[in-house]
Amino acid sequence: MKPEERIIIIDFGGQYAQLIARRVRECGVYSEIVSYRTALADILAKEPKGIIFTGGPASVYEEGAPQPPEGIFAAGIPIFGICYGMQHMCHEFGGVVERPKNKEYGFARVYKDGDGDIFRDVAAQTDVWMSHGDYVASAPEGFAVIGHTEHTPIAAIADTERKLYGVQFHPEVEHTREGMKMLRTFLHDVCGCRGDWTMEHYAAQAIREIRERVGDGKVLLALSGGVDSSVCAQLLSRAIGSQLTCIFVDHGLMRKNEGDEVEAAFRDSGMHFIRVNAQDRFLGRLAGVTDPETKRKIIGEEFIRVFEEEGRKIGQVDFLAQGTIYPDVVESGEGNAAVIKSHHNVGGLPAVVDFKGLIEPLRDLFKDEVRALGEELGLADYLVRRQPFPGPGLAIRVMGEVTKGKLDTLREADAIWREEIAKAELDRKVSQYFAVLTANRSVGVMGDSRTYSYTLALRAVVTTDFMTAEWARIPYEVLEATGNRIVNEVEGINRIVYDITGKPPATIEFE
Ligand code: XMP
Repeated sequence: MKPEERIIIIDFGGQYAQLIARRVRECGVYSEIVSYRTALADILAKEPKGIIFTGGPASVYEEGAPQPPEGIFAAGIPIFGICYGMQHMCHEFGGVVERPKNKEYGFARVYKDGDGDIFRDVAAQTDVWMSHGDYVASAPEGFAVIGHTEHTPIAAIADTERKLYGVQFHPEVEHTREGMKMLRTFLHDVCGCRGDWTMEHYAAQAIREIRERVGDGKVLLALSGGVDSSVCAQLLSRAIGSQLTCIFVDHGLMRKNEGDEVEAAFRDSGMHFIRVNAQDRFLGRLAGVTDPETKRKIIGEEFIRVFEEEGRKIGQVDFLAQGTIYPDVVESGEGNAAVIKSHHNVGGLPAVVDFKGLIEPLRDLFKDEVRALGEELGLADYLVRRQPFPGPGLAIRVMGEVTKGKLDTLREADAIWREEIAKAELDRKVSQYFAVLTANRSVGVMGDSRTYSYTLALRAVVTTDFMTAEWARIPYEVLEATGNRIVNEVEGINRIVYDITGKPPATIEFE
């Protein structure tokens, strides 16, 4: 996608690069993160209206401290340096950066010493969030000090002539109360961005570009029913209608009614929709298998096999489409942040079908933007709001051997848990919630009889990035209502536990 107005965020390895990018987009301006190693010519080719330097763990005096490409300051583009970004700017222009005696982490109060453009709409005293070891001891020539805190004499600087700005704190985090004002002033007033980046705008442009690229070619998409692939399917079907074929492999490991919901959303959408009912194949291959990794591997392989067989029936396609989203791209190491995991989506499905090119129309979007795009395109709400669901599905939520009976039991119990969470209006507050059928059986009593049945675990977590998570503090009444309903309505469960471990040490899923 090529939006007209673009802000480039130069990543120095800070943990907040993605958050900065989102904040900029919240101001209606398209933003992109690039590594500090990116060549100047590549940055200039993107025609940025402004540049933001992120924070980072390094110290400017360290050997090999990250540096932006040479010539960046001479390019005449406004620059906003955050934390390490500010320190680098100071260092570059002859200021002094030091290690302080009293480090300032967390909340600090900034006292305004000037407007320097970015502080224009900010109160005389404002709370901010600090998190860095070094600070600027002396501002370079041409820069005015526009704010200080109790322990940091130079908390913000501005050279309004050259349009260079720096803050020691993090304007992008919520704790910095007027951070968005500072960013907005920088984007709109200093960089002159109109701020008309909206989902409607994005959708129209994406549809135009897809049509141009595809021409009268054929596109194939593996549709899982998750948010990303569903939005991708909806977008492509709007753009190219019947030139799109979606293969939805129903492996029988979905939650209650999910397979039918996906079919209902796309059956009459104008695309060529193929639902492959492969439940028996998957169950057959999983019979007798108890090891979690083996289960994952079998499901992955079988998925490819089914897709391959269906793909062969379709024959040659021109493009393979994928619902890769921006965090997948950044996490896979294309940005500068440490490579966290090689995401399964990038590079994705192996070349099981013959195709000329890859189409990834969500590659620039964050998850919440993907949802907003789905809404914009009129995608069914239950697909837009769907919580993350692992590829191997319920097979990794039935601990040990997977059978049809156990899957059905789990589906019913999980549906009740989800209903009760929704009824209590917790569904938007909790990030992911599901039930797990453990492999543990215990003794119980029901009526006058002894039972020996399975233990069900309820899980609910709160997280922003799914790399770490906290267990959700679900009110007792909701747990009680869920427990009562499950024992009364679902057979084969006589004990229910709630998981109170975070990640780490546990993972979100049980297997
Ligand atoms: P864990 O269990 O690793 O899960 O804490 C983190 C997030 O990833 C999801 N997850 C998966 N997603 N394929 C996927 O597409 C998988 O094999 C898989 N395993 C875990 C999990 O649901 C959670 O959101």
